[in-house]
Amino acid sequence: MDFEYTEEQLAVREAAREFAQNELLPGVIDRDEHQRFPKDQIRMMGELGFMGMMVNPVYGGGGMDTVSYVLAMEEISKVDASCSVSMSVNNSLVCWGLEKYGTEAQKQKYLKPLASGEIIGAFALSEPEAGSDATSQRTTAVDMGDYYLLNGTKNWITNGSTASVYIVMAQTDADKKHKGINAVIVEKGQEGFSIGPKENKLGIRGSDTHSLMFTDVKVPKENRIGADGFGFSFAMQVLNGGRIGIASQALGIASGALELSLKYAKERKAFGKAIADHQAIQFKLSKMATEIEAARLLVLQAAMKKDRGEPFVKEAAMAKLFASQVAMDSSVEAVQIHGGYGYVKEYHVERLMRDAKITQIYEGTSEIQNIVIAREILK
Ligand code: CAA
Repeated sequence: MDFEYTEEQLAVREAAREFAQNELLPGVIDRDEHQRFPKDQIRMMGELGFMGMMVNPVYGGGGMDTVSYVLAMEEISKVDASCSVSMSVNNSLVCWGLEKYGTEAQKQKYLKPLASGEIIGAFALSEPEAGSDATSQRTTAVDMGDYYLLNGTKNWITNGSTASVYIVMAQTDADKKHKGINAVIVEKGQEGFSIGPKENKLGIRGSDTHSLMFTDVKVPKENRIGADGFGFSFAMQVLNGGRIGIASQALGIASGALELSLKYAKERKAFGKAIADHQAIQFKLSKMATEIEAARLLVLQAAMKKDRGEPFVKEAAMAKLFASQVAMDSSVEAVQIHGGYGYVKEYHVERLMRDAKITQIYEGTSEIQNIVIAREILK
């Protein structure tokens, strides 16, 4: 596999790095502490083309490949994972799904403003009693002829209050189990649609995570994505791509932890020399660097397979499973290397450690990734 980046991919990475350092770093501690959504930063990311990177320019996107997306995700996640989760959901789950399976009218109406960053989108699959067990949808979309009547509650929805457009999975025909689920587009402000309070989270505290409540919301039939009963398959397919996004977020958190640790280890002195000159610290750094490189290769492999139109379900699951573990381990080690300074907010690594944990949970827990991988290799 050829891992040499093109000029364009390198330029995207550089632009993302510059943006992250100049625009995200300055307020990141404050946004985390006060759980403030990075509204202005997300708007800027839209203007720079980071919110619809892979969408065809005809629909307002950047027309880039998944590798460029992964590189940008890594740079932004090194600094602010609350921003990069919005970016990942909008790019991978919302825009990619609409471009691949939406009607021309849906693309004109919804994809164009989503891909250009004018508005952002959300993806609503999880429910209070259906997280990993996603086929057990209790939200219903009853077929009323020319519209669906939507009722139910969705949980843990990223961009919950800031999105304008929501892709909601709901059960239309329970007898058909997962083949009776539909994916429908709901707009903010529709009658009967309300949004719960922001969740108070351990990490990615800037990201706005909410419950969504639907009470007799009328969704026009033309807002269904794909054929009747396609909703679960739609959700699984977009999540395959989403897992590459979250894997690259995890990679970014891990490499951010390493960069900060390398800098600190060279500056901090103990027992008459820089702590980087102590073998105890060197071994931590070398383990982090090796695991991060292995995670990067898995993420790039999944991205390249997706770009080539090859099956990538197993590779995306492996990339997310491994990179999220590396994010967790590397960020814990980064706190240890920083000692007492690592435990306070100014040095950033405690935030990376808190942010890392969610990458093992959302878009399929590590246990779900193991199930997906096992099923693929046992086929
Ligand atoms: N790609 C494509 N299709 C898939 C798939 C995949 N990765 N995984 C399952 N499917 C298909 C199966 O082929 C099957 O289809 P057919 O019946 O047509 O063959 C169908 O889905 C149902 O699959 P199973 O019979 O295997 O059902 P299951 O209940 O045993 O397992 C599951 C399904 C894999 C566990 C699935 O429920 C799952 O992935 N759960 C995790 C859900 C998840 O990732 N949630 C994340 C929420 S979104 C989020 O976090 C976004 C955010 O805000 C950050």
